[in-house]
Amino acid sequence: MTFHILTLFPEMIKNGLETSIMGNAIENGIIKLNLVNIRDYTLDKHKRVDDYSYGGGPGLVMQAQPIYDAWKSVVESVGHEVRCVYLTPQGKVFDQDDAKELAKEEDVILLCGHYEGVDERVLEEIVTDYISIGDYVLTGGELPAMVMVDAISRMVPGVLHNEESGESESFMAGLLEYPQYSRPEVWHGRPVPEVLLSGDHAKVESWRRGQSLKRTFMQRPDLLGDADLTTDDVKKILAFGRNLC
Ligand code: ADE
Repeated sequence: MTFHILTLFPEMIKNGLETSIMGNAIENGIIKLNLVNIRDYTLDKHKRVDDYSYGGGPGLVMQAQPIYDAWKSVVESVGHEVRCVYLTPQGKVFDQDDAKELAKEEDVILLCGHYEGVDERVLEEIVTDYISIGDYVLTGGELPAMVMVDAISRMVPGVLHNEESGESESFMAGLLEYPQYSRPEVWHGRPVPEVLLSGDHAKVESWRRGQSLKRTFMQRPDLLGDADLTTDDVKKILAFGRNLC
């Protein structure tokens, strides 16, 4: 899968994504990063990419021309239509389902804004999806783009070594992940829950499911409405509720 990232700060994205699991995925060619510097496309003789806002107001606005030409060069190189995501706090809040859905694409364009915004006219012409990574305002779209690339990439087959783990970790199946433990068996006087040492696979699975349900109930009850729950799960959740009363 190739992420074509239109940005004024390609180095920031390169530095942020070329290590660890993402770095390996890029090295193995499973994920490709095409970092496109919007400034390379400006026709302004001083290489400017921004100007004052018509109507007044503070801050500069990124101009349409360099963004459009950068986008066009990507679309022409791909040879067909490509989804173009604009990172903005005004977009739909990004979640795991979006990551899974976008991971099916061969190519995705991510447009990172800066300054006070981007000329609306170019957004109207090229953007297919408006996405926010949360209800707070950042200084630019680069960090949100990196967050999206990471979350989407781990859903691409081959990026995680253990194919199962992308599916089983937090938010998959709509529940939070159960707690995990590793050696030593006792640390700072805290023993690992006994069931995990029992070797009884069914018991371990049932304990983990119970822990996932409990965590979700305590920390993110809003997720339970959409989670895949059995009648046994529902009974457990009702019991947690009774214990709190
Ligand atoms: N740009 C600035 N803030 C943002 C946010 N919260 N999500 C996506 N893009 C942004």
